[in-house]
Amino acid sequence: MAGNVTFTMIKPDAVQDNHIGGITKMMEEAGFRVVAMKKTRLTEERAGKFYEVHKERPFYGDLVKYMSSGPIVAMILEKENAVLDFRTLIGATNPAQAEEGTIRKIYAKSVEANAVHGSDSDENAQIEGDFFFSADERF
Ligand code: TYD
Repeated sequence: MAGNVTFTMIKPDAVQDNHIGGITKMMEEAGFRVVAMKKTRLTEERAGKFYEVHKERPFYGDLVKYMSSGPIVAMILEKENAVLDFRTLIGATNPAQAEEGTIRKIYAKSVEANAVHGSDSDENAQIEGDFFFSADERF
């Protein structure tokens, strides 16, 4: 495999608003290759598990409800320096602080409904990719 991988989700609001194509286009144009892709919906239980590291944070309950409120699109993306370059492409967690031209600046509605997820480390990229995809779903 050329380069390494990161994991992303297009979150419920962005899917609901028909931005799957626009967001994926930005990812591809930034040099990311789609290794795996799936439209699915998280149950509250699975959303809670995915965000377990945030369990003690005040926003956890709302985040879990939001992430299970509608379908998401999960993807594994490949590129050199994938994790860091993808964090740059999506911009700050709070869209009010996101740089111009970033995915969150363009598509996010709020800190919670911030359009996309991006792994924060190589280790988490592996764990999160494995959460959604089996080996025969990656090409
Ligand atoms: P975090 O891992 O801090 O951000 P990022 O997604 O940029 O890695 O937080 C995870 C998600 O939790 C974030 O995308 C949206 C939600 N969240 C809130 O709803 N409120 C908050 O104050 C924070 C920090 C995050």
